[in-house]
Parts: sequence; C-alpha cells; structure tokens
Amino acid sequence: MTSPVKLTIRRPDDWHVHLRDGAVMAGVLHWTARQFGRAIVMPNLSPPVTSVEAASRYRQRILEALPAGVDFTPLMVAYLTDASDPDELARGFAEKVFAAAKLYPAHATTGSAHGVTDIARIRPALERMAGIGMPLLVHGEVTDADIDVFDREAVFIKRTLAPLVRDLPELKVVFEHITTEEAAQFVLASGSNVAATITPQHLHINRNAMLVGGIRPHAYCLPVAKRENHRLALRKAATSGSAKFFLGTDTAPHRVETKEAACGCAGIFNAPFALESYVTVFDQEGALDRFEAFASENGPRFYGLPLNEGTVTLERAAVVVPDRFETGDIALVPFHAGETLGWRMAVQPSTSATGT
Ligand code: NCD
Ligand code: ZN
Repeated sequence: MTSPVKLTIRRPDDWHVHLRDGAVMAGVLHWTARQFGRAIVMPNLSPPVTSVEAASRYRQRILEALPAGVDFTPLMVAYLTDASDPDELARGFAEKVFAAAKLYPAHATTGSAHGVTDIARIRPALERMAGIGMPLLVHGEVTDADIDVFDREAVFIKRTLAPLVRDLPELKVVFEHITTEEAAQFVLASGSNVAATITPQHLHINRNAMLVGGIRPHAYCLPVAKRENHRLALRKAATSGSAKFFLGTDTAPHRVETKEAACGCAGIFNAPFALESYVTVFDQEGALDRFEAFASENGPRFYGLPLNEGTVTLERAAVVVPDRFETGDIALVPFHAGETLGWRMAVQPSTSATGT
C-alpha cells in the first residue's frame, strides 16, 4: 500500500478539553481552536461550573478570548455534585447551554473536591438526563484508598458503571479517557448509548514512560497510563472503525512548577500537537482511512450534533515539538516535548465550521 503524503479530513472536534480560565485560558485556547470546530469544555474550575448561569458566563469568557476570525464553538458541561438539581440540568440542556453533565467521583482527580460522593445521591438527576437524552460524561475511577491506583478504572466498571448502565439503559454515557482493555471491552459490549473518548497519551505511552529512568511528571495524568497490553487494546479500539470511540484529548495544562513538584498535579498538556499526535498512531496502525471517523464523525453522531463543514489537511513532514511554551509568566510543557512528529497540519481550517 502506498502511503499518502497528505490527508484531508472533515474538521474534527475535541470531546474532552480543559481550557481553564483567565491567563491560562488566554494562553492555551488558540491551540484547541486552530484544530477543532468544537470542544466539550470540562467544568472543573474553582469553583466548579454547576449552574446554567455560571456555564453561560464561562462560555462568554471563552468566546471573548478567541483569536479574531477563528470559528470555534465551546460546548459547555455541568459539573455534577451531590446537590445537583435535575430541573437546573434540564433547563440548561433545553436552553442549549449544557451539552452534557460530568460525573467526577469526589477526589478522583484535579478539581473534583466537589464531586459526587455516592452515585445514588444523583439518581434523580441521572433519571432526568436519561429522559431528555442529555449525555453523562464519566470520570471512571473509584477513589477507595484500598484500591490500587492502577486498578481504579476496572473496579469502577464493576462497581459503578455496569450497574448504572443496566439500571438506566436509556442514559447516554461517555466513558471518558479510557485507559484499560476492560474499559474498551465494556464499551464494545454495551449498547449504542455507551461510547468512550481516548486521549493521545494513552495511545502513545504506557506507565514506563512515567517511571523508567527517573520520575517524569509530564507523563502523569489521571486516569494514569497503564501496562503495555492496555495501550495496545486502546490502539486497537481507536483504529477499529467502531463508532463507539472518538477523539477527546483531555488536554489539561498545569504550570510547570506545579507539575515538577514533590506532589505534582495530574494532567498532560497535549493541545498544541493533538491532531499530529493522533494521526501518527493511525498511520503506525495502517488505519489512516479510519482517522476521519474517529476525529470528526463518531463524536457528533453520538451527541446528536451536525458534522462540521470545513476541512483540515495533515501532511507528512517533520515537526519538532518545543520543550515548553511560555505565555506571560506561565510556562507549560507539552506532550511530546522535544520529540519530532512525522505529521503536521498543512492548511488552516476553512471557516464556517459548525452547524450548532
Ligand atoms: C485533569 C485536570 O487537570 O483538570 N487532569 C488529568 O490528569 N486528566 C482532570 C481530569 O480530567 O481527570
Ligand atoms: Zn479531563
């Protein structure tokens, strides 16, 4: 098979992004907006985005921070807490402010202190969401101190996700940033209402990247990268052509001094070269013909949104990922820092990208 030199696909979307707020957002937003027509914007700010009003204001701040002339639509998410009001969620969804709601088990990850302590407490909210077709986005890890951090996703499936999907078979669920073979199998075995996002890092690295030759904080995110067999299972799932898997970078910028610390923050900043990173995987797997579905079609179809109209072109060419990005007094270390990737974006996305 001859390998194409250029690949033009429908403009993609990123179904899991941490844009942050204030100066960090101002420094990172253009990376996401240059590649993606839309992004599902995570609500784990401090304080978290729990109300329609807060989500509208956050959306406005994002739109105001966009570089001139860039066509990008932020899709907002409600942060679920023990106190979530089903009426508020339903109102936000009806008013097209909330595209979805996010379940963070309390203390599972960055910004989850206000998360849900017991899924039984949000049962009325979940029932309402199932009734109106509002997707539930799940950070799928248990937080019990006696469960090994590498087992937390698999245990979550057994204890929480499988019973939830069984009890509320109508609920649309996105199992976010899956990291295990068990998660990929669970999603494949579930109905069409259950899908998953996969990050670039979980397709590229296993846990050795974090722990061999020294401790490497820039390879640390949650859920944490697992053993090699899991990485291979995720690559198989992402490139399989199944409509249940789609692109969600989980780009999660943290200032370099909070990553390179005795207790470093979880999160990998992969926004600058996200498409280049993903397409490299599809190329290595001989699946370039399946990249467009993963990046640009499966996500909007699951969410019930129109496909983007514009295109992006990627071309085979060396691109060196800088060691760090500086914006004002903020320094961020990107995923693949110092590496050379074999693909780069050739043409800026055409405009009029979305139909939302
Ligand atoms: C995310 C963050 O920093 O907000 N961190 C991460 O490691 N992925 C939170 C999350 O999505 O878990
Ligand atoms: Zn995330």
